[in-house]
Amino acid sequence: MSAEETEPLIDDAARQQHNEHVSPAGRRPLRSTLFEGRKGKVAAVSAFVVVVVVWWLSLLFVRTLLDGRGDDGEHWPKPGQHSTAGRLPVMGYNTWNYFACDINETVIIETVSELNSLGLAELGYKYMNLDDCWHEPQRSPDGFLVANRERFPSGMNNLTDTIHALGLKAGIYSDSGWYTCQMYPGSYQNEARDAKTFQDWGFDLLKYDNCAEPFDTVIREGMVGKFQRMSEAINDLALASGRTPLIYSLCQWGREQPWLWAREFGQSWRTTTDIGPAWSWMSDIINTNSFITWASDFYGHNDLDMLEVGNGNMTLDEQKSHFTAWALMKSPLLIGTDLRIIANESLEVLSNREIIALNQDPVVGTAISPFRWGINPDWVSNSTHPAQYWSGKSENGTVFMLLNTLDVPSDMFFNLTESPWIRAGRQYAVRDLWTHTDNGTAVRNFTARNVPPHGVVALLLRDVDDEPDGIYPPCAVLEWCTAENGTRYDE
Ligand code: GAL
Repeated sequence: MSAEETEPLIDDAARQQHNEHVSPAGRRPLRSTLFEGRKGKVAAVSAFVVVVVVWWLSLLFVRTLLDGRGDDGEHWPKPGQHSTAGRLPVMGYNTWNYFACDINETVIIETVSELNSLGLAELGYKYMNLDDCWHEPQRSPDGFLVANRERFPSGMNNLTDTIHALGLKAGIYSDSGWYTCQMYPGSYQNEARDAKTFQDWGFDLLKYDNCAEPFDTVIREGMVGKFQRMSEAINDLALASGRTPLIYSLCQWGREQPWLWAREFGQSWRTTTDIGPAWSWMSDIINTNSFITWASDFYGHNDLDMLEVGNGNMTLDEQKSHFTAWALMKSPLLIGTDLRIIANESLEVLSNREIIALNQDPVVGTAISPFRWGINPDWVSNSTHPAQYWSGKSENGTVFMLLNTLDVPSDMFFNLTESPWIRAGRQYAVRDLWTHTDNGTAVRNFTARNVPPHGVVALLLRDVDDEPDGIYPPCAVLEWCTAENGTRYDE
């Protein structure tokens, strides 16, 4: 039907009256005369202005509602605001653990080349992330961050172009306060401008730190609001530019329980203060994270901090335990050692395909969790002796991680059904993820013999068959084990 056809039909008399601005008694004009004549025009303009203002105010109101930001400046998380990027933990390299402030474009490109030539990029280590100290000490006169002219003479666009041309992605670092932790300019009150700068420079990821906190009277919001600011800047920029949002990696050292709120804003959040290259850091971080494993899943991950594999004097077993725990807890895996001189054994640790496959499981996003603490009673927090017996789901079976936190070798035993992911009455094929061997079938329980000090056993158990008949007792878990006729076996 055309617009013409929908016009009300007007008879000739009415049309006449209408044209003469006369309203016959008992009959209303079929068309309003409101907007005709000089007064009418003024009225028309005013009405138009009123309509526009009302329309604009309602848009503003709806936006305010959607933003979750009231006039009182209160912030709260916006459900579902995470980007579509970052479904799996990020894998790559970060400069801080080895180079600290001693970074420049040569080191970055050499590292990217190593990631390629050592086969690490192919294994998934795709991000080359710059940490602190890439900056000039001051913003430009018009307020923009500037790349350090001595360290990055070719500029950031050239750098990211090269990184991308070599098949990798690029990450950069900033801070939610006035300054970074090394006192370069932070992004506070410059969030939108800086997010755009990073995107314009070609970066794909932003690590966002927690130093140089503005005074309470300036900030008037908590940790959540402070990190929400950059999240909003990233989201707005993605909407405006139509480009993939920067992956947002929150780094506020686990302060104020980011595992409860950071998923709304970014793809990972640090859970602890800075890592160091020794076993005491590993066991401490594992201990803290043993209580919050539930927080990791697709799109949001507890970040156990950058890897120290290859640094300090950790034994090979300690490096294996470190890598296994990080990978299976679904932490980002960011290498932090000098790849130009990495020892073969450390490279092999970082290159364990079977462990990496679990970190990058496309089907199961959740982390392993402890099912028994071992040395300590369950749920006891102990940074020297964290939980020892862990399990979790995976695309290809049930994963077990056994950690020997003692300084001497030990045998480690568990009943299969201690793990919630194991079925009673079944037997399981055992795959050892460090020796890369199939180790027969486990029925009811498993013992790992002679696990080295601070060492790890990582197993993948695949359900293969019913357990053999006649195994006694009839239930692996004796509590209330009862025959159909009511006979109890646990008394
Ligand atoms: C710390 C952060 C480290 C590193 C360092 C740079 O706050 O936890 O990972 O980024 O700042 O100054």
